[in-house]
Amino acid sequence: MSKTYILGIESSCDDTGAAVIGDGVLLSNVTAGQAVHSAYGGVVPELASRAHQQNIVPVVSEALRQAGIKAEDLSAVAVTLGPGLLGSLLVGVSFAKGLALALNIPLIEANHLQGHILAHFIRTPEENEPTPPYPYLCLLVSGGNSQIVRVDAYNKMTILGQTIDDAAGEAMDKCSKVMGFGYPGGPIIDKLARQGNPEAYQFSKPNIKGLDYSFSGLKTSFLYFLRDQLKEDADFIEHHKEDLAASLEKTIMDILMKKLDLAVKQTGIRHVALSGGVSANTALREAFRMRGKNKGWNIYIPKFGYTTDNAAMIAITGYYKFLDNDLCPLNKPAYSRTTL
Ligand code: KG4
Repeated sequence: MSKTYILGIESSCDDTGAAVIGDGVLLSNVTAGQAVHSAYGGVVPELASRAHQQNIVPVVSEALRQAGIKAEDLSAVAVTLGPGLLGSLLVGVSFAKGLALALNIPLIEANHLQGHILAHFIRTPEENEPTPPYPYLCLLVSGGNSQIVRVDAYNKMTILGQTIDDAAGEAMDKCSKVMGFGYPGGPIIDKLARQGNPEAYQFSKPNIKGLDYSFSGLKTSFLYFLRDQLKEDADFIEHHKEDLAASLEKTIMDILMKKLDLAVKQTGIRHVALSGGVSANTALREAFRMRGKNKGWNIYIPKFGYTTDNAAMIAITGYYKFLDNDLCPLNKPAYSRTTL
């Protein structure tokens, strides 16, 4: 019997990705990043969609080549329809629709957030890590989202709490920008923090009921702190960048973990996963491992390659939907905002 091959396409922000999954196993995962944004301290939407246009054909061709298949072998095309930057999404979505039409195969809609959460189910021929059993909790932390999600099935997810303003990654990126560092700030803060003292400075933490997050107060308190210190010492940031990064990172991790502790307590669910770009962070991964050890949680930490935006997570989402015959009409438009 011929295999089920799903092509996944991701273009929701500033990474152009294509991946192939054959019978549930990842055969290729290609991502082209966009260095063009680093000069601007954030993603410039118009530049992102132009770069996607340049990258989409070579990235998809390379994913098919690495998987050792031809386009005609594909069973379906899964694509991120949203949420994300509309101009970026349109490139991947238009390409996927054109390909599905030309090959006369189904189109499958993938929700970007659902994809991040299902990244734990990506398997390669070499990797056989245990997958989280349902129900599990997932802390989804990225540049656009900070959410605690209860996952009851691949297609049944409930948001238990989420940020009411900035996302955790966004807070890191903005504080990094204020310090004059590049974009994205998360990996820069992560690297500097490893040489710094996390207790050096105290920044404000939110006091919000329930499982929701807030990071805008922290951002403001960081900004005011720097402003005051720079009045005394114009080189304050340069002299203390490691301690600043470590203290900022620790504050963000404390905020994230406090609500996650509460979610485990409230739900009684002890299988807990991490997802999204910020889950690449060294301190967060360590804090998570300590929770597993000290509180007896079963923890699931994604491989680095599946933390930030990638198409493997879209292909695995597409694979499950294909098995359920959950297909998408070709006239369904991309959307910039949605929930799970
Ligand atoms: O999941 P992602 O690639 O895109 C969104 O869907 O938002 O996440 C990007 C975010 C950025 O805010 C970036 O600064 C952050 O993930 N990030 C990190 C690290 N690597 C990426 N944050 C902290 N530590 C890292 N090592």
